[in-house]
Amino acid sequence: MGLFLDSLQKHWRKCAIFLFLFLVVAMVVTTVISKMYQFWDVGSDSYFDRLKGDGWEFQRGAATVAQDQFGDQFSSVRYLWQGWKPADSMWFYTTTQGSDLLPYDFFMALEKPNSSEPFRSNENLNNYHYLPQKATISNPDALPVGFVKDTYKSHDYLGFTCAACHTGQVNYRGIGMRIDGGPAGSDMVSFLQDLATAVWTVRTDSGGTRARFVKKVMDRGHYASEKEVVDDLQKYAQRLSMYNTINHSETPYGYARLDAFGRIYNRVLEHIVTQKELKQQLDLTVADLVKAGTLTQDDVDRIQKEQSGDVLSDNQRDHLVLRLSQALPLKALLKMSEKIFNRPDAPVSYPFLWDIPQHDYVQWNGIGANAGLGSIGRNTGEAIGVFGTLDWAEEPGTSLSSFISGQGIHATHISFKSSINVHNLRLIEDRLNLLESPQWPQDILPPIDKDREVRGERLFTTYCESCHTRVKRDDPKRRIVAHMSRLNDVGTDKKMAQNAATYTGLSGILRNQYVTAGPGDVLIDERAPVAALLTKATLSVVATPENKNFVRRVYQWVYDLVAEQLTNKIKPSLKHGDYDPDTMADPYASLLAYKGRSLNGIWATAPYLHNGSVPTLYDLLLPKKTDADPRSGEYRPDEFRVGSREFDPVKVGLKSSGYEGFTFDTRRAGNSNAGHEYGARDRKLPNGDTEKALTKDQRNDLLEYLKSL
Ligand code: HEC
Ligand code: HEC
Repeated sequence: MGLFLDSLQKHWRKCAIFLFLFLVVAMVVTTVISKMYQFWDVGSDSYFDRLKGDGWEFQRGAATVAQDQFGDQFSSVRYLWQGWKPADSMWFYTTTQGSDLLPYDFFMALEKPNSSEPFRSNENLNNYHYLPQKATISNPDALPVGFVKDTYKSHDYLGFTCAACHTGQVNYRGIGMRIDGGPAGSDMVSFLQDLATAVWTVRTDSGGTRARFVKKVMDRGHYASEKEVVDDLQKYAQRLSMYNTINHSETPYGYARLDAFGRIYNRVLEHIVTQKELKQQLDLTVADLVKAGTLTQDDVDRIQKEQSGDVLSDNQRDHLVLRLSQALPLKALLKMSEKIFNRPDAPVSYPFLWDIPQHDYVQWNGIGANAGLGSIGRNTGEAIGVFGTLDWAEEPGTSLSSFISGQGIHATHISFKSSINVHNLRLIEDRLNLLESPQWPQDILPPIDKDREVRGERLFTTYCESCHTRVKRDDPKRRIVAHMSRLNDVGTDKKMAQNAATYTGLSGILRNQYVTAGPGDVLIDERAPVAALLTKATLSVVATPENKNFVRRVYQWVYDLVAEQLTNKIKPSLKHGDYDPDTMADPYASLLAYKGRSLNGIWATAPYLHNGSVPTLYDLLLPKKTDADPRSGEYRPDEFRVGSREFDPVKVGLKSSGYEGFTFDTRRAGNSNAGHEYGARDRKLPNGDTEKALTKDQRNDLLEYLKSL
C-alpha cells in the first residue's frame, strides 16, 4: 500500500492525465451508446426505402392497410417536418416506460375470438386506430406505434408507451400523414374489452382454440409448463375483465378519447387501500346486500372464509381487484367497487405533445406544473395509470426512498417498488424538447388563401391572442404560458375538471403522511382528495430507484433527478389567467378551470375542446344552438360521427358524417359542446365594451389563418 502511495505521489501527473483520459473515454462511450439507436433503424430503413424508390425520406417503419371499417384507406405514409429525425420517432415508438398489460407471449399467440386471425394483425389493430408498423430492428415483431415489450423481473410483457396515445394520423386522398406527438385516434376502451374477450375465450375453451394457444405460447420457450400457461390465462382473463368492469363509464368514449385521470385515480386507489379498510367496506357491502336479499347465507359464509385467508393480505397490493374477484360474487364486487373507486366518466380528447416541455403548466385542467421534477412526476403518474406493475408493500425499517418521500423514521415503511422506468421517462421528456408542431403541407392539402390568411391574422390578434399566445414553432427559446379560464367563464363541459378536483378515496397506506395541496401542506386523512393521493404516490415512486443492480440503479437514479433539475428550463411560477385561487377551505379551487394554449399545429388535432365535442375548427367558430336561437342559423352539430381519419381541408377537421362511425352525442353527461363561443357570439368584455360576433366572411378569414399556425 505504502509503495502504491509512493508511486502515486511520484507519478501524480501521469495518474491525473490517465484519470482524465479515462473519464473522457467513458463519457464518449456512454454518449455513443445512448445515441446508438439513431443508427439502428435508420440504416435499415433508408436503405430499403431507397430501393423502393421512395427517395431519402423513409417511412419510419409505417405499414399501410388496404381499407378500414369506415372505408378509409391510405396507400402511402408521409411524415411532415417536426424537428425529429426518423430515428427519434422510431425511438419514441418503441421505448418502454414500464407498462405491463399482458404477458408478451400471450399477445403474440392470441387469436381473435372464433377466428384464426391473430389478434395483433395489422388489420385488426388498425380497426381500433392503432397505427400499423412493419418489422424493423427496434420493432422486430411489427407491433403498432406505441406498443412495446417491457421486461420486469425477468418476464416479458406487452405494454403501452406514450406514442400509442400521442401519435396521430390524418389521411387525405390516399396519403396518410403521420403526426408525431399528435392525438391518437384510438378507441382504447374497445381494444381493452375485445382483448379481455379474446383472452377469456381461450380460457373457457376446452377444444382446439385453447390447445393451439397453449402450444404457441409453449413454443416461444419462456413458460416451463402448460400448467403455468393455464394459470396465467386464468389470472389475466380475470384481471382484464375486472379492469374493464371497475372502469365502466355510462358515457362511452369512442375514438380519440380517454378518461386518463379517472383511470389513473382508480389504479392508485386500488393499490393503497389497506386490509382494515377493505374489511370495513366489505362488511358494509355484505350487510347492504343481505338486507336487500341479493346475497344468501352461503355467500356470506364463503366470503368470510376467504377473508380469513390471505386474499386480502396487506403486503401484496398489486391487483387487489383480481384477488377480491376470487373472493366475491360479481354483484357484491360491483357494489364494493363503488365504495372504493370513482367512475371514469369524463373522457377527454388526447392532447398533443409539441411544445410540452416549454409549458409552465400542462393537462387540460392545468394540474401539472412542469418546473423541477414536475415532468418526471407527471409521466410517472401516467405510467401508474397505464399498467405499470405496482409492487407497493409494507416493509420493516426506514429506507432512503421512504425518508426522501417524507414517510419519516418508523418501524415500518411503505416501499414503492414498481416496473416504472423513471430513467426512460426522463429521456422521453428530453426527446420531446426537440419536437415541433407540424405545418399545413401545401403540397398535399389545398394551398392556404394568402389574402384571407392576412385578414385572419388581424382577427386572431383581437379575438384570440389574449389566451392563445403566438409562438415561433422552431424557436429553441420559446416558452408557452398556459392561460387558465375558470369553468364558468369558458363555459365548456365541467365534468373533467370537477371529477379531477372533487373525487375522493380511502387513503390507505398513505394515511398520516403530508402532501402539498393548494396553498400548503396537508395531513392526509382517512378519506382524501384522490388528486392529493396521486401526488403523494407519484412522488414516492419517483423517490424509489428502479429494480436494477444496486450500483447502477442508485447512480442512474441520482443522475436522472439531478439532470432533470439542472436541464429543466421551466422555473416555478404562478399560473396565468382567470381562475379561483386555492385556499385551505378549497385546496383544489384552481383546478376548476381549463387551459388555453398556443395553437400551432392545431389543424392536425381534431376533434376540438378538451372533451372532443366539436368536430372541426369551422364548427368551433359557430355558436351552440340554444332555445332562443332561430332555427335558420349555423350552429355546432349536436351529433356527429367519429372514427374516420379522412381529413376535411374546408372545415379543418376529420370527416364527421356519412359513415357508420361512433356517434358522438353532445347531450350525454360529459359531452357538452357548449361554451368557448369567442367570436361566435357577441361578448361583453370586462371593460364594458362589446366584442361583436364574427361575420361568415370573417370566420373564413380566421379559419384560413388557423390553418397556417
Ligand atoms: C393510454 C394513453 C396515454 C399514454 C400511454 C400516455 N398519455 Fe399522455 N395523456 C393522455 C390523455 C388522455 C391525456 C389528457 C389528460 C387530461 O389532461 O385530462 C394526456 C395528457 C398528457 C399531457 C398534457 C398535455 C397538455 O396539453 O397539457 C402530457 C404532457 C402527456 N400526456 C405526456 C405523456 C407522456 C410523456 C407519456 C409517456 C411517458 C404519455 N403522456 C403517455 C393519454 C396517454
Ligand atoms: C378567454 C380565453 C380564451 C379566448 C379569448 C379564446 N380561447 Fe380558445 N380556448 C380557451 C380555453 C380555456 C380552451 C380550453 C377549453 C376546453 O377545452 O374546454 C380553449 C380551447 C381552444 C381550442 C381547442 C384546443 C384543442 O386542443 O382542442 C381552439 C381551437 C381554440 N381555443 C381556438 C380559439 C380561437 C380561434 C379563439 C378566437 C376566436 C379563441 N380560442 C379564443 C381560452 C380562450
